[in-house]
Amino acid sequence: MEQRKVSRQGMATMLTQVEESRKAKEKYVFWETQPVTQFNEGGEIEEGPIAAPRAVDDVQAQPYCLPDSFEWCVCNLNEDAVVQEVYELLSNNYVEDDDNMFRFKYSASFLKWCLLCPGHRLEWLIGVRVKASRKLVGFISAIPANIRVNTKTVAMVEINFLCVHKKLRAKRLAPVLIKEITRRVNKCDIWQAAYTAGVLLPKPVATCRYYHRSLNPRKLIDVGFSRLAPRMTMARTIKLFKLPGTTATPGLRECRQDDTPQLVELLNAHLGLYKLAPMFTPAEVTHWFQNIDGVINTFVVESPDAPGRVTDMVSFYTLPSSILGHPQHTELKAAYLYYTIALSVPLRQLVSDAMVLAAARGYDVFNALDLMQNESFLRDLKFGQGDGQLHYYLFNWRLAGGCSMAPQDVGLVLM
Ligand SMILES: CC(C)(COP(=O)(O)OP(=O)(O)OC[C@H]1O[C@@H](n2cnc3c(N)ncnc32)[C@H](O)[C@@H]1OP(=O)(O)O)[C@@H](O)C(=O)NCCC(=O)NCCS
Repeated sequence: MEQRKVSRQGMATMLTQVEESRKAKEKYVFWETQPVTQFNEGGEIEEGPIAAPRAVDDVQAQPYCLPDSFEWCVCNLNEDAVVQEVYELLSNNYVEDDDNMFRFKYSASFLKWCLLCPGHRLEWLIGVRVKASRKLVGFISAIPANIRVNTKTVAMVEINFLCVHKKLRAKRLAPVLIKEITRRVNKCDIWQAAYTAGVLLPKPVATCRYYHRSLNPRKLIDVGFSRLAPRMTMARTIKLFKLPGTTATPGLRECRQDDTPQLVELLNAHLGLYKLAPMFTPAEVTHWFQNIDGVINTFVVESPDAPGRVTDMVSFYTLPSSILGHPQHTELKAAYLYYTIALSVPLRQLVSDAMVLAAARGYDVFNALDLMQNESFLRDLKFGQGDGQLHYYLFNWRLAGGCSMAPQDVGLVLM
């Protein structure tokens, strides 16, 4: 995922992949061999698995072969030294924008939160090391998730953090990592996966866009993330993006562990509105909707009329980026809107409150995708459209007729 380009409102964007890759390549040497919807599919195909069902015992027992000088390892993120290695690999080699000005910098604590979730398996946190030096040069991860696609709920994994060291690119290591994680997941009797990417691969189930809301316009302009709109001065721009000093929603407070039972009900009911959405267990709700500074923030609305009753929720996660080669600034602090439930107040108000809280915590920019009901607030809250796309994919699952869905049908947020 990546990019950073100036869009119509003068904001820049930096997720997802290169602009030119929006068009499908002529040949996908690897992906054409995989059980994924291909670009040329259509007609009367039924919704469901693509590959014929297999038994776990028929799944290859041995890991795939790596080139001679490399070996597989399990990245046990319970060990600080290992988290540090994964953090460094990603900090130096993960997704960059088109112009190589920014690079995602997932923090070590974020990686632990994200990958040591309920039901995680260490053997799904796969590293590739150089045999001689033990240096970590590749990574891919899977975590379990129950995901509903239209009417069927499927036990899947979410694949993330595919990364190959810059010096080892274009050597077909990525397909080996993908095949190896598939094998290990299949060994656990799981046959479907969900993943997102900025690159266009066969074939997205949905394509969303990122939107960006300036919290610290001066810095964003300084570092080239956004630019001054025509006929705007810096002073007017700062005024335009100025947020209220306090939140507007009575009863808004940090989410606590004892909110879990109510949140499970609210979330699973709300997510029922979408065609592609996770189904959360109580343990998952406790894990995904907590407050860890600099990682994940979750706020609920406790009804002023009925103390103890939770009516709404808003959450955002923290994903900074390194600012590459800037004389003063080294890091862009970005909040990404995660899940929301707006029942007693307008979604616009909840998200505005989340931005007020993020601004107070020193974030530079607040990002949101155009999925779920987010379109309803983007314009009013002065989000600018990014120019990159985030494609959603399913492995070994096709939609009826090989079709795709609209961003508003997507109720799944992957980190
Ligand atoms: C993504 C990355 C691991 C691919 O490795 P690479 O060395 O560039 O490419 P390889 O030669 O190993 O493999 C090429 C194959 O991987 C596929 N591929 C590239 N990026 C991919 C992605 N993000 N997801 C899945 N497959 C991808 C290519 O389409 C190609 O397959 P094809 O022949 O069917 O088209 C590497 O470029 C990288 O680490 N980039 C920075 C981090 C990143 O973008 N990660 C993905 C986040 S979604």
